[in-house]
Amino acid sequence: MDIEFVAAGAAIPPKSAVARIVFEGETQDGALGQAVAASRFKGSKGQTLDVLAPQGTDAARLVLVGAGKKDAFDLLGAETAAGTAYNAVKTSGLELLRIEVAGGADVAAHAALGLRLASYRFDKYRTKEPADKKPSIVKAQVATADSGAAAGAFGPLAALADAISFTRDLVSEPPNVLYPAEFAARVKKLEALGLEVEVLGEPEMMKLGMGSLLAVGQGSLRESQLAILKWYGAEDKNAQPVAFVGKGVCFDTGGISIKPAENMEDMKWDMGGAGAVAGLMHALAGRKAKVNAIGILGLVENMPDGNAYRPGDVLTSMSGQTIEVINTDAEGRLVLADALWYCQDRFKPKFMVDLATLTGAIIIALGNDYAGCYANNDELAANLLAASTAEAEPLWRMPLPEAYNKQIDSMIADMKNTGGRPGGSITAALFLQKYVNGVPWAHLDIASTAWKKPSSISTIPDGAVGFGVRLLNRMVQDKYEG
Ligand code: BES
Ligand code: MN
Ligand code: ZN
Repeated sequence: MDIEFVAAGAAIPPKSAVARIVFEGETQDGALGQAVAASRFKGSKGQTLDVLAPQGTDAARLVLVGAGKKDAFDLLGAETAAGTAYNAVKTSGLELLRIEVAGGADVAAHAALGLRLASYRFDKYRTKEPADKKPSIVKAQVATADSGAAAGAFGPLAALADAISFTRDLVSEPPNVLYPAEFAARVKKLEALGLEVEVLGEPEMMKLGMGSLLAVGQGSLRESQLAILKWYGAEDKNAQPVAFVGKGVCFDTGGISIKPAENMEDMKWDMGGAGAVAGLMHALAGRKAKVNAIGILGLVENMPDGNAYRPGDVLTSMSGQTIEVINTDAEGRLVLADALWYCQDRFKPKFMVDLATLTGAIIIALGNDYAGCYANNDELAANLLAASTAEAEPLWRMPLPEAYNKQIDSMIADMKNTGGRPGGSITAALFLQKYVNGVPWAHLDIASTAWKKPSSISTIPDGAVGFGVRLLNRMVQDKYEG
């Protein structure tokens, strides 16, 4: 979507829809006032009123978009309202959307961000979509008093939108296209933004002793990969980095403990954690964040095969700890065990945050809007939760009760890879904690939030959300830069 900022009174081009953001209780003049009176439009959040061929304007169509109470309106409200406006006219046949919103340059810039996020679409594999189903709006204008200031404020937000689109593309790609080596190749291209990207293959990981991660991928014809993304943006290039680790299971069949056929196709999303970490690194580089940051992606495919790992196998992880495999479908924690260990061992980070579509149990616990947040450190947890609120990517802190560790005791090894159904997301987090050595660490179980089907948020189209990019980018910006 091509977006420009224009002066409030600028001429309206032909084939335009104009969206006016309206607060509760605000009234409209003349014919428009009559149209409002003939409807239930009150300016409540999310309400729209579509007026065709409005009188006294060059707009082909005028959409009133409710934004709720004026004093509760904020930058997120501007994004949401702009997203609602876009969704209201995206297939109208018109080509340009002009948004009118009262407020300063920040409000205008966030309206533009809302447009970018709402108009995201993954359509590269559609070859015969009927013309009347395709979005017709390809350009947008945000009308504002100071278009220069708005364009300036939009700079870092555009970098964020690019990063979120990058994550959404990765997560949306089908598993025959996006296998571990292809994922690694796509993040390698981020070097153009100034990141350094290193990719380890199976021989290198074998040498490091990553028997846990490698076991998951051993039934796949696709080679497992560990991608290491480095951004040295701090003034002191030797300053201790912050670190992010992502679960990148490019497809999760469950392995020998195979999943049921129904909805198995959803397991292409099982790399959503790695996708978010890649998008975060894209965002940090894109806005030249003054921080040193490491992103580590554990990339594997979990397949059933004659060479696949089995329930009953005992694995030796890079940490030296052994794991009895009870269920080959609890594979994400096996990938993260070695990725986390490697991360703290090599980079000695200030903290590590991992993101993973780790358990179905977190969906049962929190539903589809909250991701679970586990942390061994209250300051890190508080920073994550504050960023989560600021960016409207909801997190809920979950406990790490020492006593539940007995659920993952093994008779023959140091631990089992599953702890039964009770507290399934918690025992998965406790498993990960055994691979953290004193470093402040948090784990975000994003199985509940990595995709939405259907979505009820105007700036999140159905499908890949890009969850985590915004909140981590915000946390780094507010707490770890400079
Ligand atoms: N990738 C899944 C978790 C998942 C489930 C994500 C549904 C998104 C939607 C994970 O690898 C998995 O299979 N977890 C098992 C663990 C169990 C075998 C202990 C689960 O949650 O059932
Ligand atoms: Mn699984
Ligand atoms: Zn999985």
